[in-house]
Amino acid sequence: MNNFTSWLAKIKLPFFSSFEIYFDLGTSLTKIAIKDKGIILREPTFLGYNSRINQYLFFGTEAKSIIGKTPDFIKIVRPVVGGVISDFDAEVILIKKYLEKSVYLYFSNKIIKPIMVGVAVIPSIATEIEQKAVEEALYKNGLSQVFLIEKPLATAAGCNLNIFSHQPNLIADLGGGLIELSIVGSGGIISQKTLKNAGDNMNKLIYNYVYLKYGVILGEATCEELKTDLLNFENTEKTITIRGKSLETGLPKSVRIKSSDIKEALLTNFNLIIDGIKELIESSPPEIVNEVMKQGVILTGGLSQIKGLDKFFEQEIKINVLTSENYQYATINGLIKLARNKEELSKLIIRLS
Ligand SMILES: Nc1ncnc2c1ncn2[C@@H]1O[C@H](COP(=O)(O)OP(=O)(O)OP(=O)(O)O)[C@@H](O)[C@H]1O
Ligand SMILES: [Mg+2]
Repeated sequence: MNNFTSWLAKIKLPFFSSFEIYFDLGTSLTKIAIKDKGIILREPTFLGYNSRINQYLFFGTEAKSIIGKTPDFIKIVRPVVGGVISDFDAEVILIKKYLEKSVYLYFSNKIIKPIMVGVAVIPSIATEIEQKAVEEALYKNGLSQVFLIEKPLATAAGCNLNIFSHQPNLIADLGGGLIELSIVGSGGIISQKTLKNAGDNMNKLIYNYVYLKYGVILGEATCEELKTDLLNFENTEKTITIRGKSLETGLPKSVRIKSSDIKEALLTNFNLIIDGIKELIESSPPEIVNEVMKQGVILTGGLSQIKGLDKFFEQEIKINVLTSENYQYATINGLIKLARNKEELSKLIIRLS
């Protein structure tokens, strides 16, 4: 990678010559933003592959909506698993599609195609190979320069924290592929703990629970729907009647699922997250513990919208827990914010060998 200073020199060229694009290639949702316009794309990280003609035909929302409803020769592919690229070729194609759908629309009135410069986030536990995969997937899509920063730093900035201050803050990003628990301050990650029992894993636990308790086999989309529609920690009991396949007969079978079922299915999983937060605090130096106790814990990411989750965590951890305002967009908004100050951004860039 060329160094950041050379990029700084480049962006001093006339406006039309460079275009800054920000990427949060999430496990569940891909978010793309551009300088001055903000977020311009938020779509599921899913594709549909037709193995008869060897082509990806469905993308994003459409691909996600057809899970479990297609003939065998159409396979739904999730190119990002556990926060990192697991199917490189599919991810390159998905980014291409998303650039066409969002960023390229802003090029239509430009005579010369601008130089595209990308800033992307990567999980703090990503290996160098996984970091390079993100970089490469963007280079393959025509970006001239790609800079990577650690995701928790962007997420913290998106939760309105000043990551350069010496005030440590504990952020829990509860996403689809990863639970990233990080104490951030002084322009870096002070300590962190990452768990893989995130949103996708919870869908699997719901599948197992319904299978064992009711003898019904559910599709992936139904499991996700049960989680998002029923789960709450406020003791509100809602019920949904869903249709799956009977384990005994193989025929369709309807079953009524309650909020308390989903809570029971996922309680151990949430307790593991709580244990993770406690361990992170306990393993930190006393000064940090003291600050975190004062500041509280900030929840963000898709799962943080579960009603009552903050209060439930608060009871268990015995520290103030707050849910960030724009939990769906904290990471990408933080990236936009950090990129406004190039001097500060340059201090966060990961240097790959
Ligand atoms: N209202 C809701 N209740 C419960 N879960 C929800 C709700 N809304 C979204 N989710 C879950 O949040 C997860 C997606 O979160 P998010 O958008 O933060 O993930 P991501 O950024 O794509 O993934 P990651 O950062 O882990 O790579 C999914 O598992 C989704 O089912
Ligand atoms: Mg995320």
